[in-house]
Amino acid sequence: MEWKMAREPLMTLATDCLVVLHTQGGESLKGCAREADEALDHRISQLVTEGEVTGRYKEAVLVHNWGKIPAKRLLVLGLGKEEKLTLDRFRNAVAVAARKARGAGVKQLTFGCAKHLNRRWNAADFVQALVEGVELGLYRYRGWKSQDETTDAKTLETVWLSLEEVSNPAYEAGVERGRVFAAATNTARDLANKPANILTPSTLAERASEIADRQGLNVEILEEERLKELNMSALLAVSEASAEPARMIVLSYEGAPESQEVLGLVGKGVTFDSGGIQVKPSRGMEQMKGDMAGAAAVLGAMEAIGSLRPHCNVTAVIPACENMINGNGFRPGDVIRSFSGKTIEIHHTDAEGRLILADGLAYARRLGATSLVDVATLTGAVIVALGHTATGVMANDSEWSAEVKEAARHAGEKVWELPMYEEYEEYIRSEVADMKNEGGSPAGTIQGGMFLKQFVEETPWTHLDIAGTADGQKEDGIHLRGATGAGVRTLTQLALRFGGK
Ligand code: BES
Ligand code: ZN
Ligand code: ZN
Repeated sequence: MEWKMAREPLMTLATDCLVVLHTQGGESLKGCAREADEALDHRISQLVTEGEVTGRYKEAVLVHNWGKIPAKRLLVLGLGKEEKLTLDRFRNAVAVAARKARGAGVKQLTFGCAKHLNRRWNAADFVQALVEGVELGLYRYRGWKSQDETTDAKTLETVWLSLEEVSNPAYEAGVERGRVFAAATNTARDLANKPANILTPSTLAERASEIADRQGLNVEILEEERLKELNMSALLAVSEASAEPARMIVLSYEGAPESQEVLGLVGKGVTFDSGGIQVKPSRGMEQMKGDMAGAAAVLGAMEAIGSLRPHCNVTAVIPACENMINGNGFRPGDVIRSFSGKTIEIHHTDAEGRLILADGLAYARRLGATSLVDVATLTGAVIVALGHTATGVMANDSEWSAEVKEAARHAGEKVWELPMYEEYEEYIRSEVADMKNEGGSPAGTIQGGMFLKQFVEETPWTHLDIAGTADGQKEDGIHLRGATGAGVRTLTQLALRFGGK
């Protein structure tokens, strides 16, 4: 998609569709919406009076030009009540408008944004949110249908932005960041939407290498022989029953060679989770192709970091395997010695994510990470606690989790922190090993966090449980059904902050 700045007066612009913004309540039409209303002999006011245009959040009303302006159509986009408007709501409303326009066959779309709206935020952030809204809202997953009527034919080609009082540098910066953040999110969506017969641990490693090559990042793929030499036994135990070999994927970006500080990003890369010998219920198991969404988020973020090149160092570690079932698989009651040296009693073969992350986190520390974030579709319990709206946050360091939460807020991703009281540790106490990998149903999400905490020692660490947010339940704003790319924008924003931007 091409992004361009429109310079001519709005009402003289020849475009397939002109979007004007309308808020609910208060004075009726403002800024560009009022300009359009006047050019159209108050026909929009009339629609307002008739209750067809209300300004309700995410309302998108498409009207004609009545032969009055060069723009072929007009789309009145509702932003809801002005006092409730946030960049997050704006981003979602823009996504709805973009989809509506594309559905109507629009190829060139123009946004008219008046100063009274963009003045509320930093101009570059405003432009970024707009670009993200369009690029995320128009995402389509290309599957394998022989004929796909809905795609291809209708494609938005160019978006023009007509922004009052936005400087060129702010516009350029906003468009660049918006495009990079959205493309990285869409990369993660593509990966997480892929079925497990196509996206295996080794093909995930290939995709990671391609991203690294494209973005000028270092890459190292550890294959099974090397994993055995290094005693990555937790990862290997989970992978044991699969015909697909495990991989440890390492990508690194060196943007501050003079600094010892390294941001470590660790992503759960279970390409399919059957549950192992404690097999999952059969209904819904197909969703477990998305159990590598944490890995996808980390890879998406690395793609963005490679493009934006912040002043910091980042190391990404992705343990990748399949949790399957055969005669060699690990069993409940088994005891394994993880890469860190700590021993683990297996109490549930379906609590596999934390096992592979134990080796991933310990390895990231070995590679020099000084601040850690892991991202994982770790527990069904986080869906019970926070639904599909917010990602669960757990941490061993409140300053570091505050940084991560601030990055999430800025990026427009919803997160909520859960406590890590020492009392929760008793659930994972084992009589025969240093710990067990789960201890029944209470505080299921926190148990996952408490387990991971054992492998980061004193390093500041934050855990993001995206089991509820990685999968879209319905089309809503920037989110569509299927993989959402949850975590990508937070991690990218975090890297920018880490680099002092
Ligand atoms: N991959 C699942 C978690 C999950 C559930 C992700 C639903 C996405 C949607 C994870 O490996 C798992 O199976 N967790 C178990 C842990 C339990 C055995 C302690 C769970 O949540 O039931
Ligand atoms: Zn599982
Ligand atoms: Zn899993």
